[in-house]
Amino acid sequence: MQDLTVLDHLGGQLRRLCDVVGMDPATPVQLLSELLGRHGSRPLNAPPAWPSDVSDDHTPIEFSIAYNESEPPALRILAEAFGATPGVPANALATYEFLRAQSARYGLSTSRLDAVRDLFATEHPQGDFVLWLSLVFRNGRPPEFKVYFNPELTGPENSPRVVEQALDRLGLGPAYQKMVSLAVRPGELARKDRLTFFALDLQDGPQARVKLYLSHHDARAEDVARAASVVDGVDPAQVAEFCELAGRAERFTGRPLVGSYTITQGADRPNGYSVYVPIRSYVGDDQEARERVLPLLERYRFDPAMLDKAISAVTSRPLESGVGLIAHVSLRLGPPRPGMTVYLSSEAYQVFEGVSLVR
Ligand code: TRP
Repeated sequence: MQDLTVLDHLGGQLRRLCDVVGMDPATPVQLLSELLGRHGSRPLNAPPAWPSDVSDDHTPIEFSIAYNESEPPALRILAEAFGATPGVPANALATYEFLRAQSARYGLSTSRLDAVRDLFATEHPQGDFVLWLSLVFRNGRPPEFKVYFNPELTGPENSPRVVEQALDRLGLGPAYQKMVSLAVRPGELARKDRLTFFALDLQDGPQARVKLYLSHHDARAEDVARAASVVDGVDPAQVAEFCELAGRAERFTGRPLVGSYTITQGADRPNGYSVYVPIRSYVGDDQEARERVLPLLERYRFDPAMLDKAISAVTSRPLESGVGLIAHVSLRLGPPRPGMTVYLSSEAYQVFEGVSLVR
């Protein structure tokens, strides 16, 4: 066990997760290995090569299971690629490099990425990242790729301009105006309501989407419900209820609630909304998180047993012995795939100690 590498650890988790969702692990594990590159062969007991913010313990990979109403769950990976000498710009370049290789292999469309890329380039970026990516595996289909830009790379105060320009270039300017005017608390744009991610699907066609993420610091469920009401067909009460059931907080003063707006190419307003509850900030330990997520899965008619299997694929530690394994839980509303997603930390480097909430 002494020589266990980062890739051994993460690859093992991924293989077992593939098993849980009934998927061939070959492509996912291959892509994971390419993503990690030479960092995959680092010993697991060496410190992280770079303090990635993808997860709390700096593992540059986060797993998630996306339950869908009309099809089997998808397995997803959020990732940060590392440059040979890691750093924010170097890691972004490594991500572009990785994507270039995958574009050729999977016929990805990078036209929209190319159209906005220069807006997310600066010599001395602020914040923890410029560019992350995610991989989505659905059984029997080629992997899907998504990129996440950091709109705050030249400071939070510039993020509205960056996002507006990016959306303008993609012909989605009007959707932005409407969203921001209604979703942000008065005077809080780029303050308590922050534009934290700008995401693009790397595929073409009518389904190609942009996703804009707003992190609502120090918010109540009702603030997020109001933000969700920008999107037609989304029931704000359902969003508030989800936050309340997952977070059980009057005010979310720990990690922020996050909302994302899906804007489909050609639309003049967002047509999908997701809310993400950073449940790990609002529970004492992962057993408590699990006990909140299971009934939520049941409520939305997803197989709760699969969560336990996914947890076992990632860790063998008792759930009471730490917090943060279940990092976020999200509710997706509207097209293309309504459902719930549960985010699971790898805990490759560290398990965070739980806090007793018994008073
Ligand atoms: N670890 C970061 C955070 O918690 C980024 C992140 C990872 C994230 N997965 C996420 C943010 C899911 C929102 C939703 O903020």
